[in-house]
Amino acid sequence: MLDEASVRRVDKSGAADHVASLPEQVVRGFRLGLNLGPLAARRRVIVVGMGGSGIAGSVLAAWLRAERGAMVASVNDAQLPPWVGEGDLVVAISYSGNTLETLAATRDAMGRGTDLVGLTSGGTLRDLCGGHGLPCLLIPPGLMPRSAFGYMFGGLAALFPETTADVRTAAEALRVRGAKLAPRVADAKNPAKKLAQRLKGRTPIIYGTPTYAPVARRWQTELNENAKVLAWASVLPEADHNELVGWAEDPDAKRFAPILLRDPAEIPEHRALLDATRDLLKGKAKVEEVKAEGPTLLARMLTTLQLGDWTSLYLAVLRGVDPTPVAVIGKLKAQLAKKA
Ligand code: F6R
Repeated sequence: MLDEASVRRVDKSGAADHVASLPEQVVRGFRLGLNLGPLAARRRVIVVGMGGSGIAGSVLAAWLRAERGAMVASVNDAQLPPWVGEGDLVVAISYSGNTLETLAATRDAMGRGTDLVGLTSGGTLRDLCGGHGLPCLLIPPGLMPRSAFGYMFGGLAALFPETTADVRTAAEALRVRGAKLAPRVADAKNPAKKLAQRLKGRTPIIYGTPTYAPVARRWQTELNENAKVLAWASVLPEADHNELVGWAEDPDAKRFAPILLRDPAEIPEHRALLDATRDLLKGKAKVEEVKAEGPTLLARMLTTLQLGDWTSLYLAVLRGVDPTPVAVIGKLKAQLAKKA
């Protein structure tokens, strides 16, 4: 049972409230971001960040590339690609403001004379921007970075003035969908609870086409960090040219849970491929198909992401693990800081 009381008992730090606040976060982040002005209009934009922060850039970049043909790249590293230079806008995004890779990439951008804007709740990134007179979008502190996805996504989107109507529509879709996924909705009527129950005991592998790849990756990372399970994300059609063989031949395939993220407007090539993949996997493992719904591509991408967030939270509850703490990431950062 995944009733409200069980969720509250396991979710000691209120992660469910943060998942529930996604629609509101997107709206508030967007409003905050508007104060910076249309910094990203009509030029190359590189969003650099790691983990729960970097993913906001990856989702936005995938959507803008797919629907607007915008030149937006997402980098999850300490170094920028060699082609980044003067005239480009680098957006450094780190919720804590203290992530070493993001700070290194920020300094890299400064050295190359790119335009630069920070997005953070504080830390060294805020100080660095302040010290160099750079614009910096400050979002509310006190959350786990991955719980602040909506603020970061909304704030980033606001740098692109053409996204306003899409972001509004998506936020409304998130609000409507969120009400159907919340802990108060009974197990039988709640798709996130039902999916979490089916995933328990299996290792999820989430597949998306290139536009959905960052959404699949968010599913993975939420399952990793909230539910504390191994999970992987992979991109189709590429995975059909290699991983498919593993599914076909590995006698242990049943231990895994392939999850296909589907979009009603996928191109015919993708539809045929995903249908064929689903059918080939069927005899090997129980396949989960997640069918995105919503009036726009962005609404569908974000509500699919939201379903993954809730599913990871319910899987954490089923496993009896508090979704919030990620002790080992803190340990890693402390070790790296000692060496820096
Ligand atoms: C923790 C989390 C991590 C962090 C990552 C980068 O909730 O999701 O993936 O996001 O370690 O840290 P920040 O986001 O502070 O730059």
